[in-house]
Amino acid sequence: MSFELAIDWPTFLATYWQKKPVVIRQAFADFQDPISPDELAGLAMENEVDSRLVSQTAEGWQVAHGPFQDFDHLTESHWSLLVQAVNHWHPAAAELMQPFRALSDWRMDDLMISFSVPDGGVGPHLDQYDVFIIQGTGRRRWRVGNNDVVAQHSPHPDLLQVAPFEAIIDEVLEPGDLVYIPPGFPHEGYSLENSLNYSVGFRAPSGKELLSGFADYVLAQELGSRRYQDPGLTLRGDAASVLPEEVDNLRAMMNELVNSGDFTPWLGEFLSQSRHELDIAPPQPAYQEDEVRNALQEGTPLQRIGGLKVLQLASHTFINGERFSRVAPDFLHLLAATTEIDSEQLLSVIEQQNVLTQLTGLINAGYWHFAGEEEEEGDE
Ligand code: SIN
Ligand code: CO
Repeated sequence: MSFELAIDWPTFLATYWQKKPVVIRQAFADFQDPISPDELAGLAMENEVDSRLVSQTAEGWQVAHGPFQDFDHLTESHWSLLVQAVNHWHPAAAELMQPFRALSDWRMDDLMISFSVPDGGVGPHLDQYDVFIIQGTGRRRWRVGNNDVVAQHSPHPDLLQVAPFEAIIDEVLEPGDLVYIPPGFPHEGYSLENSLNYSVGFRAPSGKELLSGFADYVLAQELGSRRYQDPGLTLRGDAASVLPEEVDNLRAMMNELVNSGDFTPWLGEFLSQSRHELDIAPPQPAYQEDEVRNALQEGTPLQRIGGLKVLQLASHTFINGERFSRVAPDFLHLLAATTEIDSEQLLSVIEQQNVLTQLTGLINAGYWHFAGEEEEEGDE
């Protein structure tokens, strides 16, 4: 199933992206849910999958974390089951991410899917992410406020909410409608009936994440061992002071590392790591190179596993935190461009040096698999 998103991207980017929320009616015409509530509940029973159940009871807000054993004790209203990174585990649901690749792979985070019964929701809150919330089956009322308020409080240790807010958007979404919410705009969704919502999230790193990620790289690569030097040291009147030029020199030492040739290799590794567990199931037994060539000659396309990040930055391709040099740029470009690679296109580059070896390695690492094989490789 493929999803057609009716959006005018240039207008959307200029008017709304990171600026203000908007409802787009029938963004997906004739929207069909790629997953059922039962399948979602099944995923929430898996160890590797991150899920939670948020409910509102007479005693207040409750949060339970998956994996869940059963869903026998649920009431008919006031709860919502939320499952993170469903695109990593459910190929049909992952297709919903495709139209949003227009905005760049590196900014994309995951597909969170929620199932809510009447009055179910996580309460009024803020997110740090840009999110496109697509209404699947059912109707849900979404309220979104302006980004000027924001005292946050915790009605439960695992919930962060905001005080009631005045709405600038207050609409009931129907299947195929979408609401885009930039970071920092308070919002709340309450189901009118059993309802599925698909949240395509975009994440932006904070300065502290960048700095600590780079520091980890500096340590791992044993960079930055040159020490501060001051052969021009002169006497100063005040023993306790650190002179302005000394501060500048120390800052320059740090900037030198960031400005060095090590920055982009680190950045590519950093940005291409997924924040959520990947469904990596290396084929057993491993493929031989000629088996890979044969499968391609039979016309079988190759599929990338959901959520794997393949990024191109400077002259390198980065796959899940690992750098691949551009031995065969056409091949690496093919890997990066689409999540399903046509066998003909791969055959046209496969005789280039090292390509078959690299491709076989990537398949044996569990990053790509031949179409139709996910059932055998699944975790049944
Ligand atoms: C949802 O309830 O589906 C989305 C939760 C959120 O607003 O982050
Ligand atoms: Co939210």
